[in-house]
Formats: sequence, C-alpha cells, structure tokens
Amino acid sequence: MGTAYFCTFAHFLDCITMNILDSIDRNKLPKHIAIIMDGNGRWAKERGQDRVYGHYEGVVSVREIVNTCGELGIGYLTLYAFSTENWNRPKQEVDALMELLVNTIRREVDELKKNNVRLHIIGDFESLPEICQKELNEAKEITASNTGLNLILALSYSSRKELVDAAKKIAEKVATGLLKPEDINNEVFQEHLYTANYPDPELMIRTSGESRISNYLLYQIAYAELYFTPVHWPDFRKQNLYEALLNYQQRERRFGKTSEQIQTTTPEHV
Ligand code: IPE
Ligand code: IPE
Ligand code: MG
Repeated sequence: MGTAYFCTFAHFLDCITMNILDSIDRNKLPKHIAIIMDGNGRWAKERGQDRVYGHYEGVVSVREIVNTCGELGIGYLTLYAFSTENWNRPKQEVDALMELLVNTIRREVDELKKNNVRLHIIGDFESLPEICQKELNEAKEITASNTGLNLILALSYSSRKELVDAAKKIAEKVATGLLKPEDINNEVFQEHLYTANYPDPELMIRTSGESRISNYLLYQIAYAELYFTPVHWPDFRKQNLYEALLNYQQRERRFGKTSEQIQTTTPEHV
C-alpha cells in the first residue's frame, strides 16, 4: 500500500522554489550581483521591535543569499552593508551595527572558508573601528585562497568618495609623469576604483521599496539591470533571489542597439 502523502505548507513552498529554480537558465546568470540591503529598521518597527532587531534578522538573509549565490555559481556578490552617510545615525544604532559586524564575521568565517567564499571589502576601511578592521583583515586572510563566490562587503562606502579618490590617484600619476592625460580612458579610470579587480554588476537589487541608488557603485552600474522589490531585507530569501534572477533573464539587454540587432546576433552580454 502506498504511503499517504500530505502536502504541507512547507512542502508547497519548496515546490514553488524548485519550480522557479527550474525556470532559471543557468547559462544566463549574471556574473556579478550587487544588492542594497534595505528595510531592516522598518521590518523591525512593523513588529514593534527596536531597529537593531531588524539588523540581526538581516544577517539571516545575508547568510541565505550568500549560500544561494554560491550554489548557483555566481562569481561576485557585492552587499551594501554600511554607507558613509550611515555614520550619521544615532550612536546606539551605529555601535550596534559595528558590534554585529564583528560578531557575524567571527561566527561565519569558518563557514565562508568551508564554502569556498572569498571575502573582500570596499569602502573607507580606516574609518571602521579597529576591532572591525582586525576581524575583517583576518577573515580576508583566512578566505584568501578560496576560489568560489567573491563576497564583497561595501562598508563605510561612498561611491562619490570612490570616484573622487580615483580622480586623485590619476591626477597624482599625471603630476609625477607616470600617466599622460591623453592615456586616460574608461579602462584606466576603472583600474583606479576600489572595484578594479571585479567585473561590473549586471544586476542591482534594492529591497524595501525605495527606488534610489543611495551613493552605491554609481560608475559600475552604468549598464546594470535595476530590480526594486518592496520586500524588506530580513524577508528577502532564496525564493526572492530566484524571482529577481528570473526577472533579469526576461529582460532584453540592448546596450544601445536595436532589438532586431540583438535578436539576430549572438548576445555578448548575458
Ligand atoms: C538597511 O536597513 C541597513 C543599513 C542601512 C545599515 P535600514 O536600517 O536602512 O532600514 P530602514 O530603511 O530604516 O527600514
Ligand atoms: C543604503 O540604505 C545603505 C545601505 C543599505 C547600507 P539607507 O537606508 O542608508 O539609504 P537612504 O538613506 O534611505 O537612501
Ligand atoms: Mg534604509
């Protein structure tokens, strides 16, 4: 006699997740996904909790999204974790975020190592508390030989500062004769950004319903597909990432060409 089969709600959700995953074309995945993890505070407030509770729950989403990107074979994942503007938040929240950063890195580093994830940091590293710098440097070292997902944390990050810093570095090279003004082009400029070693993101996701970029990767997202979702970051899980990827794959990336040109030539940027 056959086993009675009960379709639980959890099983139902698993089925939906699997279905979406089946619809994703593994050959057309972005190499680099950038995310603005937003909405932690509102998520907590909606539950009558302190904003910091939302940040704690946001870490659960970070873990799940990092693992999912690893499973999918995504090359680069850049997460906006703290902007230079975020220093202007109440001290109690900033302190809690820095403490959460240290504790999370400390707790997760073995898992990152095991999962072949390599950690990178972009932003104004020196402005972070020393304990954060120490923990992050150690985690970077421990994961340095990993060859799977490159996890790039944007911390104390400002895209405008990154651009100004690049301009300064280039100006210094010109002043000392290392570079001629006529040799400055897109490639040279790109090599002076914090992200010099990473490809540009093809997909940029922002959670929480805000439709703005908030000083994030302004140069690098020139041709990224933008995906805005009302879901707050602590609720953004595997299934939501699959939905974003499916949406990305349904878009036609034209890069200035016409639709007809794209359809008759082999796509270069998929
Ligand atoms: C994103 O969530 C996390 C950080 C900016 C550190 P928020 O803290 O911005 O949450 P909301 O936007 O206030 O809801
Ligand atoms: C952007 O979120 C920065 C991070 C997600 C770390 P914010 O919540 O700080 O952005 P604004 O201030 O609403 O634009
Ligand atoms: Mg916010």
